[in-house]
Amino acid sequence: MEFSIKQSNSEKQRSACVVVGVFAGGKLSLAAQTLDKAAQNALSDVITQDDMTGKLATTLLLPRVAGIAAERVLLVGLGKTSEFSTQQFLDVVRATFAALHKTPCKDAALFLSDLVVKGRDEAWKIKQIVLLGTESAFRCDQLKSAPSAPVSLKKVLLGCAEKPSSAAQTTLLQSAAIANGMMLTKTLGNLPGNICTPSYLAEQAQTLAKTYSLKATVLEEKDMAKLGMFSLLSVSRGSREPAKLITLEYNGGDKKQHPIVLVGKGITFDSGGISLKPGAEMDEMKYDMCGAASVLGTMQAIAAMGLKLNVVAIIPSSENLPDGAASKPGDIVTSMAGLTIEVLNTDAEGRLVLCDALTYAAKFKPDSVVDIATLTGACVIALGHVASGLYSNDDSLAAELLSASDYAQDKAWHMPLWDDYQQQLDSNFADMQNIGGRAGGSITAACFLSRFTKDYRWAHLDIAGTAWKSGKDKGATGRPVPLLTQYLINRANQK
Ligand code: BES
Ligand code: MN
Ligand code: ZN
Repeated sequence: MEFSIKQSNSEKQRSACVVVGVFAGGKLSLAAQTLDKAAQNALSDVITQDDMTGKLATTLLLPRVAGIAAERVLLVGLGKTSEFSTQQFLDVVRATFAALHKTPCKDAALFLSDLVVKGRDEAWKIKQIVLLGTESAFRCDQLKSAPSAPVSLKKVLLGCAEKPSSAAQTTLLQSAAIANGMMLTKTLGNLPGNICTPSYLAEQAQTLAKTYSLKATVLEEKDMAKLGMFSLLSVSRGSREPAKLITLEYNGGDKKQHPIVLVGKGITFDSGGISLKPGAEMDEMKYDMCGAASVLGTMQAIAAMGLKLNVVAIIPSSENLPDGAASKPGDIVTSMAGLTIEVLNTDAEGRLVLCDALTYAAKFKPDSVVDIATLTGACVIALGHVASGLYSNDDSLAAELLSASDYAQDKAWHMPLWDDYQQQLDSNFADMQNIGGRAGGSITAACFLSRFTKDYRWAHLDIAGTAWKSGKDKGATGRPVPLLTQYLINRANQK
């Protein structure tokens, strides 16, 4: 889907469909008033008949309205004027695209970005329209023998009353890059474990590197052994697919600038290992590489934008499977940091690959490090599928990530990392054990990681509840690409 923005009159805009909003009680938005005048009150008449009440996110399609250049008019209910804010705007945009996809329209002109949304600027509205529009057109059927027809809507014009600022144009381009990054993240996430292996992720990183002139490095198991990454390597022991440590470097900033490092958990299938998971919904553990996928999507997005910033992506990737060579409960391994770990549960493998990747991250002298991981079922219990869990050893970094999260509407919630939880990781036989019991399971997982991140500013996003949807709508969400890209855009703008 292609987006453009320009100053235009809703009644003169030639297009398959022009979209305007109507508030509850039948009050027309400004763009709708202009249309109504040109159509000699045709819209007001429809409203008087109660065919469109303005109820939030309802739609009414009017074919061939006399006096209007577009072939159709789509009315969208905006709800009560007094209640119109962030959530309502997003609902309206979603309803708009859902309604447009039910028509054969190849293009549409949306007059929604002039609506006043409390606390949000023009750029925010443009961004949300581009992200939600692209999302609405996403299909994942490349593995079906007869893919369903793609959506007909190809071009979307954002019409506005005044000439759009250059900032608006920049936002439009950046949002398209973010939307494409999310599509990459979703596509990789949805791929099954027999296709998306650690080697496949490494190839994807190399392809990205070629396309966008990034630097890709792939460490093999023997390289990792030389570095002492025996915690990471303990996870791939039970698998026939070799583990990979993938690094992608983007140098958009000046040479002296310390990079922001993103570390993404890349378990391409998590069976639990010898601590085997129950069978129900085990297929969803193909999504255990969504942290890695979000890091690749983010790298693609910022490279396409040409952000003036240095960013390094590190992806520890492995399968977690049981076989005769697999790690067993009780095994003790030595991490790259030299700390010994008693593996009491082989299903707590995410932290085992991440701890070595986090130690490795220090080599880049990072400004800050953010890891992204489908780390714990406990995080899903705590926050559901709405917010990602955010942990940090630096309150200003946490604040920056939360502000990006709010702007991007990619929700995250600040969770505690108090020392009080650390003792749950005490082991009788090693420096620590890899599980902390049922209580506060997402927190103790973060506490485990915090032991390897003492030398830099660090944050951890537990995306176990937000990276994909289950059930009828099963599929990767592309989160937290919106959060990460917004954080990086904000950082680039600070400099
Ligand atoms: N990848 C899982 C976490 C997960 C589970 C994400 C369900 C989304 C949905 C992770 O590797 C895992 O298995 N964690 C264990 C940790 C436990 C053994 C301490 C968990 O959450 O059960
Ligand atoms: Mn696991
Ligand atoms: Zn896992």
